[in-house]
Amino acid sequence: MSRLTFRNWDPQHDAEAAFKIYSDIEVVRYLGCRVTVMESVEMQRERLQKIADSAASTGGVTGFWAACLDGEPVGSALFKELPDGEGNPTGDFEIGWHLRRDKWGQGLGTQIAAAMLELAHRHVPRVLAIAYPQNLASLRVMEKIGMQPLGLTSQYYGVECIAYESSLLARNGDNAATHR
Ligand SMILES: CC(C)(COP(=O)(O)OP(=O)(O)OC[C@H]1O[C@@H](n2cnc3c(N)ncnc32)[C@H](O)[C@@H]1OP(=O)(O)O)[C@@H](O)C(=O)NCCC(=O)NCCS
Repeated sequence: MSRLTFRNWDPQHDAEAAFKIYSDIEVVRYLGCRVTVMESVEMQRERLQKIADSAASTGGVTGFWAACLDGEPVGSALFKELPDGEGNPTGDFEIGWHLRRDKWGQGLGTQIAAAMLELAHRHVPRVLAIAYPQNLASLRVMEKIGMQPLGLTSQYYGVECIAYESSLLARNGDNAATHR
């Protein structure tokens, strides 16, 4: 299995690698509230800089990281607090994953997702992942890492999407029931 590593995006050195990922409509089609295809390496660099600035201001355990193969960024991994439709924090946390298109279909998305789930559960007992209903690959990744479907919701980002959750409380409850 390929070895993935995670690190912060570096706006100066990683803009070209990130541009290869986010200039592809197939990758960005289901990301965010509206589709944004990166049009130039400079535009990509500015986006990475905004992400770096925002990470510096929150300074916590959440983040948006480069997922690297042999040191080369081929995707992103995220763990962050979900905003509501007005951008206010909801107290719920999501994990997410993006991958360069030529790397799809090799299990890497699932590897990124599993790593984020493990990281997230070190900090919160309940972790969500959300995707547009059409994003079947991402929904499948949620299932593959053992998350449970919650159905459609409009609670986050002001859009309708499908939510999955992973709850340590439920898992521990299951274990308790099994061992009774
Ligand atoms: C989501 C994403 C990271 C998945 O990456 P990946 O490396 O291809 O994922 P994996 O290979 O680990 O697993 C994908 C699973 O989805 C399945 N899948 C892929 N496309 C599918 C489709 N159109 N319909 C149904 N299942 C699909 C695969 O068969 C696989 O399941 P399987 O192992 O049971 O066969 C990748 O497609 C991506 O970067 N998409 C664009 C960014 C994005 O939308 N991110 C999620 C935002 S919510």
